[in-house]
Amino acid sequence: MNLLSETPASPTPTFFVRDVPVYGDVILAPMAGFSDVPYRAICREHGSAMSYTEFVSVEGVIWKSKRTRRLLAFVPSERPVTFQIFGADEDQIVTSCQRIEEWGPDIIDVNLGCSTPNVAGRGAGAGLLRDPAKIGRIFARLSRALRVPVTAKIRLGWDDDSRNYLQVARILEDNGASLIAVHGRTRMQNYSHPADWDAIAEVKQAVKLPVIGNGDVKCVADIDRIKRQTGCDGVMIAQGAMGHPWIFQRRDREEVPFLEKTAMMRRHLMAMVDFYGEETGVVLFRKHAVRYLRGTPDVTQLRILLLTRARVVEVMQAIDAYEAHVCEFESGVWQDKPGSWKLEQTLALDSLTSHLCSPISELSLGV
Ligand SMILES: Cc1cc2nc3c(=O)[nH]c(=O)nc-3n(C[C@H](O)[C@H](O)[C@H](O)COP(=O)(O)O)c2cc1C
Repeated sequence: MNLLSETPASPTPTFFVRDVPVYGDVILAPMAGFSDVPYRAICREHGSAMSYTEFVSVEGVIWKSKRTRRLLAFVPSERPVTFQIFGADEDQIVTSCQRIEEWGPDIIDVNLGCSTPNVAGRGAGAGLLRDPAKIGRIFARLSRALRVPVTAKIRLGWDDDSRNYLQVARILEDNGASLIAVHGRTRMQNYSHPADWDAIAEVKQAVKLPVIGNGDVKCVADIDRIKRQTGCDGVMIAQGAMGHPWIFQRRDREEVPFLEKTAMMRRHLMAMVDFYGEETGVVLFRKHAVRYLRGTPDVTQLRILLLTRARVVEVMQAIDAYEAHVCEFESGVWQDKPGSWKLEQTLALDSLTSHLCSPISELSLGV
């Protein structure tokens, strides 16, 4: 059974990436360490209009690393799926994009925005923004060499003195790019500086390509605001979607009932275990778990349990006990003092089996 309905959310595509239709206007951003198969599938199910993989390095592709292959796994129901790649060397970028094209993406995206020193500092990611002519050469070659559309995710420039986003956007368009996602910050502004949506509006005005606006979209009202302010075709959400797949259903965190959050935690955990195996799945789930719990009451003890338990059954027990505790609190029969709940409930094995039967456990690799 697929997680997603076979029928697109809307009969008319919201926009096209060259000849690839996209239904919907809100998209989970690529996030290394977060936007893996389980979380992307959950977000697609909740209305994210397409999938971007986490970025992979050209070296990982060329050296045929197992990890890279896993990072580019996807489930068919995620389509349209975009593979994202980063690198600094023109030849390596072209060669590795040709190789990953064989692994079945609908679109290939080149990262021109990563700000971390070990990427941008060696001329990849946002480092490429310092050499617009090189960007032009790379996209001219890629658009000739690839059958699938090639797109870019950019920042506004390296720093405030080199905000060359309009020049870069025009170069991308002139050299065969099919979409530009614009993160409205410079490389130096990293992630916390307020995003400049007016600059995204300028890009939208400057090119005929579809433009995705990104940066500082934290709630449903922000989705509508950035669309109004920039005229962008789609909106990409990263930090605002951590532990909050419901944003793709246009529901804010406060609108999601507590029990829906705990149910999603269980389901997400089982999807992680299915995909990675128990040992890795439980550990990788932790960073998601703490984000689902943002704003829920009396959470310190659960956080400690989540961060220290290695078995899926123990994590399930902790979530069940916490859930019971909060429900007691909310129904006004809280016997204990806040913060003093204990992991007393034991989870029967048949109850764990029912978690294991969650539909997301049917995920399989798309490659
Ligand atoms: C943990 C994390 C990992 C990220 N990894 C990637 C990545 O692999 N590729 C990419 O293009 N951007 C990556 N980004 C940047 C986001 O896609 C996005 O552009 C940025 O966070 C701004 O959006 P926001 O304000 O909604 O968070 C990452 C961001 C975060 C927080």
